[in-house]
Amino acid sequence: MLAIRPKMAGNPQRILENLTGAVVTFDAGLRLTSINPAGEMLFEVSAKKVVGRKLAELVPHSLRLVRALGDTLATRLPFTARGVRLALPAKRFITVDCTVTPLPDGTGGDELLVELTQVDRLLRLTRDENMLDRQAANRAVMRGLAHEIKNPLGGLRGAAQLLERELPDKSLKEYTRIIIHEADRLRNLVDRMIGAHQPLRKRRVNIHEILDHVRRLMLVEVPVGLTIRIDYDPSLPELEADPDQLIQAVLNMVRNSIEAMERHGTIFLRTRIERQFTIGHKRHRLVLRTEIEDNGPGIPEALMEHIFYPMVTGRPDGTGLGLSIAQDIVAKHGGLIECTSRPKQTIFTIYLPLETSHG
Ligand SMILES: Nc1ncnc2c1ncn2[C@@H]1O[C@H](COP(=O)(O)OP(=O)(O)OP(=O)(O)O)[C@@H](O)[C@H]1O
Ligand SMILES: [Mg+2]
Repeated sequence: MLAIRPKMAGNPQRILENLTGAVVTFDAGLRLTSINPAGEMLFEVSAKKVVGRKLAELVPHSLRLVRALGDTLATRLPFTARGVRLALPAKRFITVDCTVTPLPDGTGGDELLVELTQVDRLLRLTRDENMLDRQAANRAVMRGLAHEIKNPLGGLRGAAQLLERELPDKSLKEYTRIIIHEADRLRNLVDRMIGAHQPLRKRRVNIHEILDHVRRLMLVEVPVGLTIRIDYDPSLPELEADPDQLIQAVLNMVRNSIEAMERHGTIFLRTRIERQFTIGHKRHRLVLRTEIEDNGPGIPEALMEHIFYPMVTGRPDGTGLGLSIAQDIVAKHGGLIECTSRPKQTIFTIYLPLETSHG
């Protein structure tokens, strides 16, 4: 328990505003009376819009919490609940641990102080770290392999060409054509494997420039049946990044969406800012969140854990490299890609740090 001596209390408002845990208070009618910035981030709302509103409006369908808060008002006993699943107004689910403390409001009634910690995020972070390590190891193997394949391939192709010229019977050319064609196909594959490992050529760039570029490209490629909606935060600062490589990463994800939707559907491109956000071991003051959402069939559950690994594909003609390359590019920028999926809603979220506060 943190005790603050009055002389040292400083500015309680400032302390509240800088806490990384979400703190929310409710009056006896379960109307929200205050929410700190971490709370605004957790619930994805702005204080201006929600203060004065009922708890049930903030977390619709979360009857367990509403009931528990009602009980606390009646019994005046504090309680802690672990692993409470909350539905956010944005139709997203989060899992939190929450502690509710009744505080006398000075008029004989009680106010409720609610502290929330998002636990699914914490669980995910440890998993992310493991996953990122494994993915990096996998990519190193892939890169080594690609180099090994590339060298003899050139020789193989050259020899087939020479052989083709010497062939007495032109009908045998069919075979040398196959060798050359397959060697070219393999070289393209290998180039893609190695291509992602080019060094970054960074400059200051607006993420919307990158997204608009991809959007234009895709609408030319798929002129009928595809809708791309944008929902940008226009106040986002520029980031220091390699625009060509980021375009490649976003393209890989948007292409997957289009393929999954069989070229008919809607893709949403969304940008937002996250404050005090942890990626891997590093806490960042500002992180850029970009979402690529589609209303396709979703990713099969059995694939979900593995999609970022190279050579993992759910498509008969897929090489399974797109997402591994995208994750690699984003990781080189200090960022991370996450994915959630269910039928009619698959969201790939790219986190890119804008500033590091400490790490
Ligand atoms: N938006 C999505 N909706 C449904 N499934 C998806 C989506 N994005 C990816 N997937 C699944 O994840 C798999 C891996 O994607 P990834 O881009 O890494 O490889 P690929 O598309 O199969 O091949 P490549 O991109 O190398 O041509 C896909 O084959 C697909 O099954
Ligand atoms: Mg792909």
